[in-house]
Amino acid sequence: MPRLGEESIRITAVRPTDIREIHAAYNRLGDAGKRHFHPGFLGSEALSPRGIAGRLLLRVSARPLGLRVLRTLRIAPFLIAAVARTESSISGFAFVLVRKMTRPGTFGVFVVPGSEGRGVGSRLTESVLREAEHMGLQEVELTVQADNDRARRLYEGQGFVIVETVPRGDRYRGYAYDYHRMLLRFSERPDHHEDRTSS
Ligand SMILES: CC(C)(COP(=O)(O)OP(=O)(O)OC[C@H]1O[C@@H](n2cnc3c(N)ncnc32)[C@H](O)[C@@H]1OP(=O)(O)O)[C@@H](O)C(=O)NCCC(=O)NCCS
Repeated sequence: MPRLGEESIRITAVRPTDIREIHAAYNRLGDAGKRHFHPGFLGSEALSPRGIAGRLLLRVSARPLGLRVLRTLRIAPFLIAAVARTESSISGFAFVLVRKMTRPGTFGVFVVPGSEGRGVGSRLTESVLREAEHMGLQEVELTVQADNDRARRLYEGQGFVIVETVPRGDRYRGYAYDYHRMLLRFSERPDHHEDRTSS
């Protein structure tokens, strides 16, 4: 059953014209959101060499032709990336970073304040995971801070399980936070035949 507001939000593959808006949307996250999700290549995050590489990867992967070439030739790394948009703006973003087809992909997601709790995060997650499975990835992993109950519930609902807990392993702005590493094996995933991307 559609949740409130879900019918007006579309999930689509990222396009080059979305990139500026994705960075702006990330900047709208509050302190807790940025503390929970800081992949290093979004918005005004402090830039590192990895962050610059991530920004480039996002640009290349947003180009349908560039992405098709990378995927067809199985030249990793690339991003499987999707945005959630209303008529006027982007309300969320998710990706699976594929470094090597034989290694687990790395997953990340955020939803802007005001659009949370309406199924947007779940739909974005389903969308990029479906694409990753379709491409032949066997596993996807992620890290989630131990106090991020909302995200953990979302991931558990998608079939991720905690495989490791690292005390004070996630450093952000001078503080260290406990995190869980979670893994999804597509072969063990509960059935997700329902297509919720076409509303
Ligand atoms: C985590 C995040 C992506 C979730 O997005 P969302 O659109 O709110 O998620 P959904 O509406 O799809 O809800 C996901 C699950 O969380 C549950 N949930 C919603 N609000 C919750 C809350 N306050 N506490 C615990 N669980 C909550 C929902 O019930 C749902 O579970 P269900 O499917 O079993 O009902 C979003 O809150 C966010 O961007 N947070 C900041 C950045 C972040 O933490 N990213 C993840 C880093 S690991």
